[in-house]
Amino acid sequence: MAVERLNKKGIEAMRASCQLAARTLVMVGEHVRPGITTDEINTLVHEFIVAHDAHPSPLGYRGYPKSVCTSVNECVCHGIPGDYALKDGDIVNVDVTTYLPKKHGWHGDTSVTFYVGQPSEDAKRVVETARRALEVGIEQVRHGARLWDIGAAIQEFAEGRGCSVVRDYVGHGVGREFHAAPQVPHYLPDKRPGMFLGDMRNIRLKEGMVFTIEPMINLGTHACELQDDDWTVLTADRKLSAQFEHTILVTHAGAEVLTVRTEVVKHCEDVPWADVGPLSAPAAWEARQTPGEGSVVVR
Ligand code: MF3
Ligand code: CO
Ligand code: CO
Repeated sequence: MAVERLNKKGIEAMRASCQLAARTLVMVGEHVRPGITTDEINTLVHEFIVAHDAHPSPLGYRGYPKSVCTSVNECVCHGIPGDYALKDGDIVNVDVTTYLPKKHGWHGDTSVTFYVGQPSEDAKRVVETARRALEVGIEQVRHGARLWDIGAAIQEFAEGRGCSVVRDYVGHGVGREFHAAPQVPHYLPDKRPGMFLGDMRNIRLKEGMVFTIEPMINLGTHACELQDDDWTVLTADRKLSAQFEHTILVTHAGAEVLTVRTEVVKHCEDVPWADVGPLSAPAAWEARQTPGEGSVVVR
């Protein structure tokens, strides 16, 4: 399936949805503390998104029962909110996807991993590796780069820190659809002939493409186990897993992080994401000013 490229109008619409998703995470950070249940986080997210004329994309997606994913400790992804009360030392990934406007809208997809109370050394290692892994991946993005450069860089970084990279779940194109082409692996796929890669292709990135990068980083094995509810994914060895996710626009000069945050997410980061490294908002702004070669079509 061809990878869509957005025009100016589509990009503006994506910025709006992605910014709502980013602000939702900032809001959640105000409430993270030992004792809060994942269901209470779900309610906060649901009400915030609905109050902004948007729909929480997970709700009803392929039968998913809640408005957000809350993945605690050994949960890799797609944790379903419930009556579990977060406790001191837990880590929890909150994965928000907004659909704005509520009808005929655009999906903005972003997640962070929060520290609940005081983190263990293991928790810090896996969370900080996941945080940086996302940045390392974004640094590869520019018009003309290869899609698999992203995963190769992430894998080299994460394995170099003694962690592993989940293979079973990948980043994805996002826009009018929640999940679209391309698949964005966070590892370098094995290119041995005959190996089944689904519709994974090592395409060249082009201006106007929009996709997520969302590395799931494990402390132990990369192997995952889908639970009987058909959603919850746990690490096979029940060791910790952490994840961060941004929605990214490919620009001529690099990447614009559509889900960029200019405010700190409490219990997660010390400085706003926009102030971190070469992925700053100013860099994204500069990239937008640089006219690209050729026209960006579709929508
Ligand atoms: N937000 C997840 C992602 O990053 C997908 C969640 S699907 C759901 O792609 F149904 F579990 F919400
Ligand atoms: Co995603
Ligand atoms: Co997500």
